[in-house]
Amino acid sequence: MRSHYCGQVDETLIGQEVEVCGWVHRRRDHGGVIFIDLRDREGLLQVVFDPDRADIFAEAERIRGEYVLAVKGLVRERPEGTVNPNMKTGQVEVLAHELVVLNRAETPPFHHDEQANEELRLKYRYLDLRREGMLNNLRLRHKVTMAMREFLDGDGFVDVETPMLTRATPEGARDYVVPSRTHPGKFFALPQSPQIFKQLLMMSGLDRYYQIVRCFRDEDLRADRQPEFTQLDIEMSFVDEASVTGEMEGLVRHLFKKVLDVDLPSPFPRMSYAEAMQRYGSDKPDLRIDLELIEVSDLMKSVDFKVFAGPAADPEGRVAALCLPQGSELSRKQIDNYTDFVARYGARGLAYIKVNDIDAGRDGLQSPILKFLPDDAVNGILERTAAKTGDLIFFGADKARVVNDALGALRVKLGEDRGLVADGWSPLWIVDFPMFEKDATGKRWTALHHPFTAPSINDAEALKADAGNALSRAYDMVLNGSEIGGGSIRIHDQEIQAAVFDLLSISKDEAEEKFGFLLRALEFGCPPHGGIAFGLDRIVMLMAGAESIRDVIAFPKTQSAHCPLTNAPGEISAEQLKEAGIRLRAPRTE
Ligand code: AMO
Ligand code: AMP
Repeated sequence: MRSHYCGQVDETLIGQEVEVCGWVHRRRDHGGVIFIDLRDREGLLQVVFDPDRADIFAEAERIRGEYVLAVKGLVRERPEGTVNPNMKTGQVEVLAHELVVLNRAETPPFHHDEQANEELRLKYRYLDLRREGMLNNLRLRHKVTMAMREFLDGDGFVDVETPMLTRATPEGARDYVVPSRTHPGKFFALPQSPQIFKQLLMMSGLDRYYQIVRCFRDEDLRADRQPEFTQLDIEMSFVDEASVTGEMEGLVRHLFKKVLDVDLPSPFPRMSYAEAMQRYGSDKPDLRIDLELIEVSDLMKSVDFKVFAGPAADPEGRVAALCLPQGSELSRKQIDNYTDFVARYGARGLAYIKVNDIDAGRDGLQSPILKFLPDDAVNGILERTAAKTGDLIFFGADKARVVNDALGALRVKLGEDRGLVADGWSPLWIVDFPMFEKDATGKRWTALHHPFTAPSINDAEALKADAGNALSRAYDMVLNGSEIGGGSIRIHDQEIQAAVFDLLSISKDEAEEKFGFLLRALEFGCPPHGGIAFGLDRIVMLMAGAESIRDVIAFPKTQSAHCPLTNAPGEISAEQLKEAGIRLRAPRTE
């Protein structure tokens, strides 16, 4: 139906006839002449309807926004003064001499330029995706997956599909379950990841596997989490940490070069989990922000302020400072807002010292807690934070976990609010994670990564004896404060796997029931292997500069895991329930 995309018609075509199709982006009447910006996926093109051609002019007068048109016409230079340098097609216009209205359109519920609310955008997602920015996000995503496939194919990785109807894979979230009709009372789980299958493929000798694969996790949603999301999932045999991380850096560097023409560093910096928590209060530090948590626990042990002295003396406690350059200009109200902000992370307060004049000793400081702090504590704080006149020092004192969460988040918030986030890309690896951490009850061990991650201690007895100090052979890739990938070297020894299940209080019976097939496979010649999975949505979100992964997913769900477009999840008929062998409980009445 067309000779060119609208967005491709430029000055090289002046004097030629073109046929274009698209949507009416905007219509203007100017002194009897009608101008239409016709839009397709490549851009906008100005089409002119001249009253001299009475037949199509009459037709053009009836055209409204978002009508679908086919236009034939002559490409000509725009008259002087009407050239639009901001448009690819801004030098030219098409003088229409044929017009077909292919379809009419109702007035859309929101306009292209409008900031519509998200519920409405998702309900009319097909209209939302007509926006240039959204369409570009989808095309960027395509470029990203193409570049990934290109790199991986070149390095001998084989794309293999794994089942969607399967058993639970433990990645720490709830499963989405699917009832089985042929096995009444039994359920499939949708995969939280292809973790076990990719390990089995290594046992088969595939050696290098990848898959761009949907994963399903029923967990609390945030801007960077969706109930179904896409991983670039990878596994390799006969490798150690260095071989996997080296290969994966190569992949990510290729991606950024190819798609954004950005050169990422080589190698990526590496940081231990312990150092990341100590300095940034986070296992996904955004290194573009030049603020650090400063340890002051030792200075606070004997101060006359219980709020600080308590956590300072507690082995699980921490007192840390965060010095904000030029922060003393913050108002009382702003500080109160930051206090409310850290409260969301469990902090019970946000003490601070304003440094009004660093050379004036105590008199130069302003703080509600100054009276509690002896000179040596004050001097120690000023020295370690290297505070200058005009700075403000915040403090967190609590269990280390609370201080890290609160000040770690505050650090990022201050970075954003105060314009302290440097431009550019800051990738790094976080390594040397603890193998286990205590759960909320403080009694049971849980796995920091999934339970197939190899411990640094390669001996079942030694591991059991010192579980609290064991590190895992896991690595996370972090980019600009976002965890974009995570993986590990796996356990390939049945005894160690059994010991890990044991430590995680997964009984022999339960392990057999859930992962018996994996344990069995380990008995049949399992190569050393390891891998990683990247969050595709998060990578594309960062590359697109989007606020949420919802902006780079064609048909995402809302924060409450609902789809306003299809109205899923929905009810099913009594017949379907019966077939699935399910009887619903009566909804609870208050
Ligand atoms: P992990 O659970 O760390 O590892 O997931 C890998 C990456 O997937 C992304 N991600 C998500 N993205 C959007 N929405 C979600 N709900 C979501 N959950 C995770 C993150 C994360 O880094 N099987 C292991 C990988 C391995 O060990 O090889 C796994 O799934 O970017
Ligand atoms: P209070 O004695 O409770 O009035 O607290 C004095 C100052 O210490 C206030 O600025 C509080 O915000 C702050 N504060 C209280 N608890 C903590 C805490 N756990 N960590 C950091 N600052 C705190």
